Amino acid sequence: MLQQQIEDFIRDIQLASIEKSSDRAAQVEQFRIKYLGKKGVISDLFEQFKSVPNEHKKEIGQALNRLKNAAQAKIEEFRQTVENDEQESGSMDFTMPTDYSSLGSRHVLSVVMNEIVDIFSRIGFTVAESVEIEDDWHLFSALNFPHDHPARDMQDTFFVEKDEKAGSQEVALRTHTSSVQVRVMENNKPPIRIIAPGRVFRNEAISARAHCIFHQVEALYVDKKVSFADLKQTLLYFAKEMFGSDTKIRLRPSYFPFTEPSAEMDISCNICGGKGCNICKGTGWLEILGCGMVDPNVLRACNINPDEYTGFALGMGVERMAMLKYQIRDLRLYFENDLRFLRQFEAII
Ligand code: DAH
Repeated sequence: MLQQQIEDFIRDIQLASIEKSSDRAAQVEQFRIKYLGKKGVISDLFEQFKSVPNEHKKEIGQALNRLKNAAQAKIEEFRQTVENDEQESGSMDFTMPTDYSSLGSRHVLSVVMNEIVDIFSRIGFTVAESVEIEDDWHLFSALNFPHDHPARDMQDTFFVEKDEKAGSQEVALRTHTSSVQVRVMENNKPPIRIIAPGRVFRNEAISARAHCIFHQVEALYVDKKVSFADLKQTLLYFAKEMFGSDTKIRLRPSYFPFTEPSAEMDISCNICGGKGCNICKGTGWLEILGCGMVDPNVLRACNINPDEYTGFALGMGVERMAMLKYQIRDLRLYFENDLRFLRQFEAII
């Protein structure tokens, strides 16, 4: 009974408000007298508490304390409201900072992807986009992948159910953005100068260093007399714009089915300045991207005459670029959308 009465009072207190119109200080005082006054609700209840049997004293005592705290908190709240309103109705201070409201931020991968696109746009590359569900021709065959190449393997590629209308071709989630090269060359005549940013998929277990979804940016330049020197100069320009004007590059011979010759580009470690640290594993160099001269077989597959035209291509991982630029150590952070991570990039547009 007494317990119930106390709970009802607590609820009343929580719901209580003061009217805007009449004398508000008086209303607060009335409220105080009603609950905390000498003959108020609470002292009355404490009086009744004396006759509560011992076994109930503990819980009723606790409820009474909650009631008292609730009344005190409410009075404090009323006083604050009255005080604030009085200040507001007085002179306004226009120099007060406004309330902080969070605007949200771009995802770091978008930031980095936009930056790469921006750097290439400044030298005449335009953005090309294409499908994420791709057939074997555009993903592998036209790019000169041998039939037993491991990239076609079940372990790497997410295959999508075969579409009978598409003939007997395998259909898969694209494993790289190089497929966009083929689509662009099939549909355009040189000169071609495109940059293809996009999402790619690989059948890999998720860990700090691997993910089944990531992003790449591909660049392709096809014209008469495009040379390896053009490629090198473009790479140097890109590295300096992206990682700072002191950045050095080096090319190591490599292999990709769709380029000949192929190379991998390293940049001087932007964290230790090339002296050697744990990010560059003591070498002073960081592996950045794959590149090369477009293989004549690829040009031919896209109906471009390799005797007349040459080209270069390059491809890089956006996650890796962002990791190196912002020293992000774990790939999973990009996709978890933890606000504590995302908010660190609020200042970058
Ligand atoms: N497609 C390659 C990959 O996914 C990256 C790449 C390497 C793209 C060399 C290129 C290139 O255009 O020339 O690993």
